Amino acid sequence: MTEGNVFATSQRTHRCGDLRALHAGTSVILGGWVHRSRDLGGLVFMDLRDRAGLVQVSFNPDWSAAQVIADAAAVGVESVVLVEGVVQPRPDEMRNPDLATGDVEVRATSIRVVGPAVTPAIPVARGKNDKLPAEDLRLRHRYLDLRRPELQANLVLRHRLLQITRQFLSERGFLELETPILTKPTPEGARDYLVPSRVHPGEFYALPQSPQIYKQLFMCCGFDRYFQIARCFRDEDLRQDRQPEFTQIDIEASFIGRDDIMALSEGMVAAIWREAGHDVSTPFERMSYADAMERYGCDRPDLRYGLEIHDFTAAFAPLDFVVTKSAIDGGGRVRGIRVPGGAAWSRKQVDELEALAKGAGAGGLLRIKKAEGKLDGPVAKFLTPDAEAALALNEGDLALLVAAKDRVSHPALDRVRQECARRLGIVDDQARRFLWVTDFPMFDKDPETGALSAVHHPFTAAHADDMAAYPDAPERWRALAYDCVLNGLELGGGSVRTSDPRVQSRMFTLLGIGDVAEQERRFGFLLEGLRAGAPPHGGIAFGFDRISMLLSNGTSLRDVIAFPKTTAARALFEDAPTTVPAEDLGELHLRSTVEAK
Ligand code: AMO
Repeated sequence: MTEGNVFATSQRTHRCGDLRALHAGTSVILGGWVHRSRDLGGLVFMDLRDRAGLVQVSFNPDWSAAQVIADAAAVGVESVVLVEGVVQPRPDEMRNPDLATGDVEVRATSIRVVGPAVTPAIPVARGKNDKLPAEDLRLRHRYLDLRRPELQANLVLRHRLLQITRQFLSERGFLELETPILTKPTPEGARDYLVPSRVHPGEFYALPQSPQIYKQLFMCCGFDRYFQIARCFRDEDLRQDRQPEFTQIDIEASFIGRDDIMALSEGMVAAIWREAGHDVSTPFERMSYADAMERYGCDRPDLRYGLEIHDFTAAFAPLDFVVTKSAIDGGGRVRGIRVPGGAAWSRKQVDELEALAKGAGAGGLLRIKKAEGKLDGPVAKFLTPDAEAALALNEGDLALLVAAKDRVSHPALDRVRQECARRLGIVDDQARRFLWVTDFPMFDKDPETGALSAVHHPFTAAHADDMAAYPDAPERWRALAYDCVLNGLELGGGSVRTSDPRVQSRMFTLLGIGDVAEQERRFGFLLEGLRAGAPPHGGIAFGFDRISMLLSNGTSLRDVIAFPKTTAARALFEDAPTTVPAEDLGELHLRSTVEAK
């Protein structure tokens, strides 16, 4: 290794992309991939690529032997070669200002093909206007797609963000501790991936949905401050921002409250964003869950634009209009947004918005527009002066209303609000609106069965005041839980935990696990830990892939995960999942009920 150049090895002296004018006159040995090659009949220009970038290598009878030129002309793109030569400044008219190495070229005196390549299934080199091949094809040939400078840059950034995270937490006394992958189910609201045990017939491990229980046990063990860059596994419906296997920055600490964790998280987020070249101002805004739902219909509102939801129930209650009247009589409300300029939208455009609302469960979307000083829409002729005043429409405005129970109108108005903002072009791509959403409800109550489920997870503590005020109405308890949201995307979530084992046991009972033996069977390893002396503790987990995606301006987690799954949870490159021969299943004491194809 050469001092100052950690990339020098026994086989190469420099990296292609590192060469600059200051290297002029230096003899170098480069190793890289043939990005492009032009044979001008006796002169060969080759772009050689490695992790650091591209450099032009030129083969010319003035400095290259005839055989060297012939060898260079014969090498296929994407082959790996070792090139020896001398760095020279390019003549002025040959400089390439678009390339970091554009002031120099390497005059080659030898070339050796060390890794010949078959014709690549998808091109790696692309012209400025060339479209990317279809994503399925790129995922199928991920070994080539990952050679693209954009994806290389994303993974390099991912590495840097990981290092800064580790450094930030480690400097504050957090210990990086690892937790098992073969474990017991940890409820986080998704299905588990199960792993059959060969030595214990009929028994299964679960892959962790998160390290939640273990990190709490670390607190019971006195480790005080823990973090882990943790791989989590969740069998759930996938979207652009969800993968079955993903990475969390997982954090837990003792003798802390909600504000401590929020302040720590803000510092960490600011450090991560700074590493990617962005300033973030702290503290972040805060909003209660109840406020977020009331004003935006969603618990992770995008604050880069307004279009807030208003409640028109009081003004609409006296109207003799069957849609709003029956909704209000049935315990619903009339809520909606005012869209400036929306009156100009065609009926078809508004119908599309209604289809979105219906897709989210609403019966319909009521429209009232103000054009040429007049209100227009099915409810217009029923409106009283009071209702008109409440709507407060300006010329050109469109009001879009949903008359329903909140459970229905929240998601419908959320969808409509987001689409209106997109159409109006009012989403500022440069803005960063970080937000804490706090005071989530502790439980979700199934309207049909009345069964409770945990909104965050079963280990979250409830507000003591709420538990005291409504001992028999747990659906009214607020949780000491918080989500960190950026521009409508949930970056992370956490809570203060229940550290009293009796209260934890009560929470399990409320969640329908009333049987003590059942509690012990499923969660005994946590309850025992808590009974052995547990400090007050809490924590949070951030979605690391989501953070990397945002900071590399990607639109999909697949842009920042080296070997991701498709939205159908398939690995196209490795070809997983796959069927397994019956005898292998037999060893695991399993039999497939699916006919072999
Ligand atoms: P939670 O379930 O909110 O909390 O997860 C934390 C963060 O992880 C990210 N995330 C995902 N990223 C990609 N693909 C997925 N399928 C996926 N699911 C979640 C999100 C989310 O905010 N144990 C708790 C944390 C705690 O209480 O400390 C937990 O896992 O960005």
